[in-house]
Amino acid sequence: MTIEQEKFSGGVAVITGAGAGIGSGIARRAGEVGMTVVVTDISAERAEQVAEEIRGAGGKADAMTVDVSKPAELDRLANEVFEKYGSVRLLVNNAGIETIGYAWEIPVERWEATLNINIHGVIHGVRAFVPHMIKAGQEAWVANLASIGSFGIMPVQTAYMVTKHAVQSFSECLYLEMELAKLPIHVSSIIPGQVKTSIFDADAGKDEPTSTARHRQIMHDIMKAGGMDLAAASQVILEQVAQNKFWVSTQPEMTEALIEGRIAFLRDQAPPSLHESARQLLEA
Ligand SMILES: NC(=O)c1ccc[n+]([C@@H]2O[C@H](COP(=O)([O-])OP(=O)(O)OC[C@H]3O[C@@H](n4cnc5c(N)ncnc54)[C@H](O)[C@@H]3O)[C@@H](O)[C@H]2O)c1
Repeated sequence: MTIEQEKFSGGVAVITGAGAGIGSGIARRAGEVGMTVVVTDISAERAEQVAEEIRGAGGKADAMTVDVSKPAELDRLANEVFEKYGSVRLLVNNAGIETIGYAWEIPVERWEATLNINIHGVIHGVRAFVPHMIKAGQEAWVANLASIGSFGIMPVQTAYMVTKHAVQSFSECLYLEMELAKLPIHVSSIIPGQVKTSIFDADAGKDEPTSTARHRQIMHDIMKAGGMDLAAASQVILEQVAQNKFWVSTQPEMTEALIEGRIAFLRDQAPPSLHESARQLLEA
């Protein structure tokens, strides 16, 4: 029996943004290890498709349409799930978008969407679910999607970077809050390096400034060429969450490199600088 089966089999998993990419990978893996998976996404069609795949493979899954940028929708989700199932063993606050553009060129709506989905979606997922978890009185797991971007900087991905730094600090504080309040709720920060998904696809950035569209294409091509396989990454993620790890990295060597760069930057109080290879790529 794997550690994921031991900890999670028979429990309920709720995953946001699970209609595609990493959320869908974690949802499929949760189904494989015997969880009932509540697949949620802003796209009803994509959520239903992933739930159908899980059921087709012999697992249990429900699909729900949820826009994480709206706190009331997360409250509705939590109420409905706890009413139906009575407990949630695993909550994955996964939904997130990439936004490309110079900070002063990104339209207001895109800034708002980025902050609301990537930061507030995670915060309000926790705010909506944790009181129910406490009431249920069972061991539970909350995992929030950070990024290697939580430890680095990247111009033209400023909006995204800001949100991932915020999610990382939120998860660190949340971990300590669970300890202080003596709650049986484990907190993990999931740090994907590069996992092959549709996050950099052109249509995901249709309301971004056109002056920086080339940057999205470069990131898209890098991910396509060197990104980790989705199923393999999802397996690593669920395994490490089941091991109660706070740091959950798909590619630990990438996480370490970014953290080392950050440590040096803070220690030296140096001006922000781009790695030479990144500079050459972006300026070419
Ligand atoms: N792919 C990577 O290499 C990578 C690296 C670091 C971090 N991440 C993080 O992983 C998470 C998932 O990214 P991905 O690469 O799988 O992206 P993706 O674009 O492939 O999938 C994201 C899913 O979220 C859904 N979504 C978008 N807005 C939503 C909203 N308002 N409410 C609910 N669902 C919404 C989309 O419909 C889509 O199904 C994000 O938080 C991302 O920042 C990914």
